[in-house]
Amino acid sequence: MTVDAPILSLRDVTQLFWSRSPDGWRRRALRALDGVSLDVHEGETLAIVGESGSGKSTLARLLLALNRPSSGQVCFRGTDLRRLGAAGHADYRRSVQAVFQDPSSSLNPRMRVSETLGYVVRRHDLATAQRQAAFIEGHLASVGLTPADSFMGRYPSQLSGGQQQRVAIARAMMLAPRVIVADEPLSALDVSIQGQVLELMRALKERSRVGFVVISHDLHAMEAIADRVAVMHQGRIVEMGRDVFTHPKHEYTRLLLRARLPADPRAARAQLAAAVAGPVAVD
Ligand SMILES: Nc1ncnc2c1ncn2[C@@H]1O[C@H](COP(=O)(O)OP(=O)(O)OP(=O)(O)O)[C@@H](O)[C@H]1O
Ligand SMILES: [Mg+2]
Repeated sequence: MTVDAPILSLRDVTQLFWSRSPDGWRRRALRALDGVSLDVHEGETLAIVGESGSGKSTLARLLLALNRPSSGQVCFRGTDLRRLGAAGHADYRRSVQAVFQDPSSSLNPRMRVSETLGYVVRRHDLATAQRQAAFIEGHLASVGLTPADSFMGRYPSQLSGGQQQRVAIARAMMLAPRVIVADEPLSALDVSIQGQVLELMRALKERSRVGFVVISHDLHAMEAIADRVAVMHQGRIVEMGRDVFTHPKHEYTRLLLRARLPADPRAARAQLAAAVAGPVAVD
């Protein structure tokens, strides 16, 4: 493995999904990703934006090795995932963690918080049996679940959506990952909670220097935390950079930015008012 290589990279990756035509005789290919190349550097927050169906989740699943590409390479520290040895694979499994959209389905409803997190501690040998509770409570506290011991015995149904997502983030953070791939981590949450979880991600990044690949429809939120933004359209990255929102180069990015106006009702109302109050015919 190369030391200075990006922690994750995609090299000319294509992902096809096959389906049958309605008459059942022909197979049709859908090109969910089309020649995508991308580097994720250690410690950076890379946002992936784009309309529904543009391939964002497909890209995330490849980075997490939940899918295999139809062609091209997915690399961890410069080595193709298929060529990682046992030690490299173990390093990858700890260094790259996932947080998903709906915390209630990513946490086992029949397991208490202490059991869900305890399972990971034992599986990865993160603390001795005597130290396990203190280790878990330390991680709960570091994602803002305090007093930590009051959360240990609770089931997911006894937590709010925001608290569930914090538990999911604590579970990922316990392994001291270098990057967390988060597919729409905010969109199942109440709007009032989204800002808090976003703030937590920013705090973790500062404290632990963990990077994020974060997928979101919320361009405002991404503008607030991203170091770089990749804009996806029909399976391709059409634009990538630091000032994508302030200086969009691609017409599709401009469209995306315009489409977000209704998400900001005051701005939309002001625009509408200006349009309505526009040139008035006087005779
Ligand atoms: N397992 C699959 N089998 C067949 N088609 C799939 C599969 N997964 C994704 N697709 C298709 O691939 C394309 C990209 O899907 P993907 O889920 O990556 O989009 P997305 O950008 O995450 O969209 P959204 O914003 O709605 O989550 C879509 O046309 C989708 O229907
Ligand atoms: Mg998706």
